[in-house]
Amino acid sequence: MIQAHGGRLVNRLVSGAEREALLREAPRLRSITLNARETSDLEMIAVGAMSPLEGFLTKMDYEGVVENMRLRDGTLWPMPVVLAVKPGDNPADYVPDMDVALKGQDGSLLGVLHLTSKWEINKDHEALQTLRTTDAAHPGVQYLQSVGSHYLGGKISVLSLPKYDKFGKYRLTPAQTREYFDMKGWKTVAAFQTRNPIHRAHEYLTKCALENTDGIMIHPLVGETKSDDVPADVRMRCYETLLSKYYPQDRVLLAVYPQAMRYAGPREAILHAICRQNYGVTHIIIGRDHAGVGSYYGSFDAQKMFDTLQPADLKIQTLRFENAFWCKLSGAMATTKTSPAGEADRVMLSGTKVREMLSNGQRPPVEFSRPEVADILIEAYAGKAKVGA
Ligand code: ADX
Repeated sequence: MIQAHGGRLVNRLVSGAEREALLREAPRLRSITLNARETSDLEMIAVGAMSPLEGFLTKMDYEGVVENMRLRDGTLWPMPVVLAVKPGDNPADYVPDMDVALKGQDGSLLGVLHLTSKWEINKDHEALQTLRTTDAAHPGVQYLQSVGSHYLGGKISVLSLPKYDKFGKYRLTPAQTREYFDMKGWKTVAAFQTRNPIHRAHEYLTKCALENTDGIMIHPLVGETKSDDVPADVRMRCYETLLSKYYPQDRVLLAVYPQAMRYAGPREAILHAICRQNYGVTHIIIGRDHAGVGSYYGSFDAQKMFDTLQPADLKIQTLRFENAFWCKLSGAMATTKTSPAGEADRVMLSGTKVREMLSNGQRPPVEFSRPEVADILIEAYAGKAKVGA
């Protein structure tokens, strides 16, 4: 089985006497209520999905990550995974060597941060380095502007994973997906990261992958996304319906990926790859404008970013795809690599156009989206003017 990133699958969930002691200590500690992104990061660190991270980045690791995508020990790590003080909170109240209780948005105790590092955030610099822009219209820049002035770093001990009332049976940890792949005897497994309903182009990529691997994990991101992306519960209905009719049941696993979107394009593609390696996946699909938003990144910048890495940096491999569409000439799905079709002979719809159609109760053509998926989206969004597609 493929190694976890950094060599060892991290587990920061504490149990037994250690847990009891922290539970007793926690009520006396200063506490921070985590936002949605921080909560999903805590969960992913706890279960090893972010291996080798054992907590929120410390200043030295953060600087290495921001400057050249590496932790202090040289391990590849492309994006800050950080905990910020709340806006209005006094950073002076946090002193290295103290323990801080970490709470969920419902007030429940999730864990404890063993604080070792605190520093002031240079938000513009982080944004430029990691998102390639400081434009306030970029959702990642907006997020950065929404947090407090300082980061707090250190290992975490997690007492309870966040509780969710949705997607229970699909919430598999890296240990569980690894066990599943092992049980199935899959030696090669592709992962498909997505924050969209699976339209025909996405389906094509996953099936090309499946031609070459033993199995595929459809691994939709269900952490925080921007408001005009299709909500995860609607997407999950689309995936379930699509998979039940159009995929070989014994070669596909549907599981959810708790991470929040950063919309960081190339750097986020690497983060997606590292975390999927932790889930035991050997190949990850990287297509056009992976994890992109608007026109901040070139269509294939994410793919090119993988070419800048050293061979020892990653064990997982990329399955790369050019622009996929329905080709009218061949009457089949294709990409710019396999079809001579010019613009006029391709069925491709912009997100805006699809949104417009769905809001008007109109089905996008079958060449773009399976009717069953279109029906779910129409039902969810009919009458709403501003939804994602
Ligand atoms: S992402 O933010 O998760 O990357 P999305 O769900 O749209 O967004 O894409 C999932 C994966 O499919 C990404 O690897 C993306 O590059 C790829 N992809 C989406 N649409 C196309 C397309 N038409 N052609 C090629 N690749 C695509």
